[in-house]
Amino acid sequence: MDINNLISQMTLEEKASMLNGLDFWHLKGVERLGIPSVMVSDGPHGLRKQAESADHLGLNASVPAPAFPTAAGLACSFDRDLVNEVGQALGDICQEENVSVILGPGANIKRSPLCGRNFEYFSEDPFLTGEIAAAHIQGVQSKNVGTSLKHFAMNNQEHRRMSTSVVCDERTKREIYLAGFERAVKKGKPWTVMCSYNKIGGVYSSENPRLLTDILVKEWGFDGYTMTDWGACCDHIAGIKAGLNLSMPSLGDAADRQVVEAVRSGKLDEAVVDAAVARILNILFRFTENRAKNPEFSLGVQHHLSRKVARESAVLLKNNGILPLASKGSIAFIGAFAEKPRYQGGGSSHINASEITSALQAARSVAEVRYAQGFHTDRDEVDEALKAEAVALAQQSDVTVLFAGLPDSFESEGFDRTHMRLPSCQLDLIDAICAVSGKVVVVLHNGSPIELPFAEKVQAILEMYLGGQAVGGATVDLLFGAVSPCGKLAETFPMRLEDNPSYLYFPGDGDTVEYREGLYVGYRWYDAKNMTVRYPFGYGLSYTTFEYSNLRLSGDTLPVDGELTVTVDVTNTGRVGAKEIVQLYIASAHKGVSRPVQELKGFEKVYVAPGKTETVTFKLCKRAFSYYNVDIADWYAENGAYEVRIGASSRDIRLTALVNVTGSPALPVRVTGDTTLGDIRSIPGAETVIGPLLQQMAQVFGGQGEGEENAMGESGDAMMEAMIGYMPLHALKSFAGETFTDDAMRQMIDALNAIQK
Ligand code: BGC
Repeated sequence: MDINNLISQMTLEEKASMLNGLDFWHLKGVERLGIPSVMVSDGPHGLRKQAESADHLGLNASVPAPAFPTAAGLACSFDRDLVNEVGQALGDICQEENVSVILGPGANIKRSPLCGRNFEYFSEDPFLTGEIAAAHIQGVQSKNVGTSLKHFAMNNQEHRRMSTSVVCDERTKREIYLAGFERAVKKGKPWTVMCSYNKIGGVYSSENPRLLTDILVKEWGFDGYTMTDWGACCDHIAGIKAGLNLSMPSLGDAADRQVVEAVRSGKLDEAVVDAAVARILNILFRFTENRAKNPEFSLGVQHHLSRKVARESAVLLKNNGILPLASKGSIAFIGAFAEKPRYQGGGSSHINASEITSALQAARSVAEVRYAQGFHTDRDEVDEALKAEAVALAQQSDVTVLFAGLPDSFESEGFDRTHMRLPSCQLDLIDAICAVSGKVVVVLHNGSPIELPFAEKVQAILEMYLGGQAVGGATVDLLFGAVSPCGKLAETFPMRLEDNPSYLYFPGDGDTVEYREGLYVGYRWYDAKNMTVRYPFGYGLSYTTFEYSNLRLSGDTLPVDGELTVTVDVTNTGRVGAKEIVQLYIASAHKGVSRPVQELKGFEKVYVAPGKTETVTFKLCKRAFSYYNVDIADWYAENGAYEVRIGASSRDIRLTALVNVTGSPALPVRVTGDTTLGDIRSIPGAETVIGPLLQQMAQVFGGQGEGEENAMGESGDAMMEAMIGYMPLHALKSFAGETFTDDAMRQMIDALNAIQK
C-alpha cells in the first residue's frame, strides 16, 4: 500500500477523523478510499472481545476465549519461548476474531506490592520485564496481529491513576521505569504503544512530547502508532502535537472538527496530522493485508497450552520433602479455591474463560481426594461450621492441601490493596489445620505478594499466582510430580509490607506521588539494606537439585564496545529431569557512582536430564555494565572491575568472576566556579592549568616550607588533601592570594572546559 499516495487523496476532515476512534473498540475507516475500520481489543492474557455492549472495565460479557496465566505468573517462567508461544496463541484467536491489535502486554514495574494491577505486570526488574514483554509481542505479531505495549509510562498504582502526577528523578526513570519499555520496544517492535492515564512531572502522558516523541520515537525508533488509554485524552490537539496518534474510545465528532479548525487556524501543522495518519495506516494495512486465510485456532488446544504454561510458571516456595505427593493414602483438599480457582484478575483484562479446570476436578483422575470448603472467598470473617468441617477432615487425612489466596475484592484494576495479608478467615483456618496436622501443603492463588506468617508452620507452599483457566490441572500435575516445578519469583516476597522501599511514599498525597526510594526498587533495595526477605527475587525450588560449575568468561577485560561471552555448566544432581533458571547479575567491584548492589542482566532456562550437564551461554555488552548518566543524557559504563555473578536466585549466587571494562571515554566535567578541585584534578591534562595554583594551596594549608614535616603527620596530610579536594574553585578567591581574581578564575574555567573539547 502506498500510504503517502493514499494520504494525498484524503481530505483534511478524513485525516482528522482517523486520529479519533469510531466507537469503543474500532478505528474509523474511509470507505471511498478503501480504508477499512479495524478493531482493537483487550487482552493480554487471553482475548477479551466484547460482542455486544462495550465497557472497558470487563463488566459486560465477551466471547469465550482461553485465559492464560496473568503476567505476574507468566514472568516467573523466565521462559522467552513459552511466552512467545502464548503470544502466538493470542495472535491466532485475534485472527479468528478479526482483531487487529490486542491491548497489551503491560510493562509497568511493580513498585509496591499493593498496586491493584500488579497481576497484569511482569516484574520489579526492568530487564526481566523487557525480555518477557518482547517475547510476548514477538509471539503475537508473528501471527500478523499487533500488540499495544502499555501503560506508557509510570502507571505504578491504581489509586487516582487518572489524575496523579509522578515525581521521579531522571536516572530512576531511565534505569527502572522506562528500561523495560525500552527493551520491549527495541527488541519486540510493538505495532502500537498505549500511553498511561497519569501525569509525569505535571504533564499527562497523553500530552507528553518528551515521552511520546523524543524518547519513544527518536531515541528508541518506535515506528507504530500511539494511542491513549481508554479516556486518557485530556487535550486532543496538545496530544497530537506531542506525538499521540489515536484517542480511544471515540471523543465524538467534535474532536474531529477541532483538529480541522486547529489546522485551518495555523495552531496545528497539517504535516503533523499527516504523519500521525501515516503511522496508523501503516499498521492498519499491515493487519488487513496479512489476514490469515485459515486461522489455526482451537479452544481445546489453547486450554491444553494454558495448563502447560501454568505448570511452567508456578513457583515452589517451600518443600520439606512432602512434595510430590503419593497418590495413595487419604488426601484432603481444603479451601474454596480448590473447587473454584481464582485464575485471573478483575478489570479490563477479565476474560470469559472458555473452560475452567479446578484442582478438585483434575485430582480425581489421579488420587482419591476429599474436599471441604473451609471458608467463604467473599468474606473476611470465619464461618465456624465450615472451619470445623475442614479441621475434622484434615484430622482424618494423611495429607492436607490447603488452597488459599486473595479474593477478587482484594485486588483488581481500579484500586490498590491497603495491606498484604490474606483474609483473616483463611489465616485462621491455616492455623487451625496446622494444629491438627503435621502434613500441610498450601497452594496460593494471588496476583501479587502476600505476607506468609504461616511459612514456618506448613510443610510446603506452592505459588500458582493467577494461573489461567487450566490452573487446577497444572496444580495437580505439580502436586503429584507429573513434572517438577520450574518457575522462579519475578518479584521479592518481603517479610512484611513495611519493608517495601515505597512504603512511606505510596500512594502519595493528593494528586502527587513522589518516587523517593529512587533506584532502589524491589531486590535493589532489599539487597542494599541487607534485609531478610521471605522469598527473594529469582527464587524457586524444584524436585531435583542442580550444581553449577565451570564459569568461563571470554576474557578478563571487556573493551567497552565489545561483547563478553559467559558460559556455565549446570548439572542435574537429583533423580528427576527438570528445568533450571540460571540467572546472571552484574555487581560493580570498583569505586564509582552509587548503584544497586547487583542487577539482573541475563537469564536462561534449561532442561537438564538427571545426571546430565548442560552448558548455558550469556552474551553481555556495554549496556549490562552501564548506568544512566543524566549529564550526558546517555548510558555510560564506567571503566573498572565488575563481578559477573551466576546464581540460582538473587540470594543464591553460586559462582563469580571478575571482568574489567576498559575504553570508556572520560566523562566531561563541566567546570564552573562551583566545581571542586578534586573533580578538576580528574580532568586529563588539568594539571597544566591548575598545577601552580595547587602548589600554592598546599603551602597555604600545609603552612610549612619545602621538606618540613606536617605537625599532624600523615593524618594531617590526608586532611589537607581532602580539604583541598572538596574546595570549589570560587573559594580560592579567599585562600589563594590576590592574584586569583574573578578574571583569573574565569580564564581558568574557560581553559579547563576547552581542554575537554
Ligand atoms: C485499561 C487498559 C485497557 C483499556 C481498554 C483501561 O481502563 O487501563 O489497560 O486496555 O481500559 O479496556
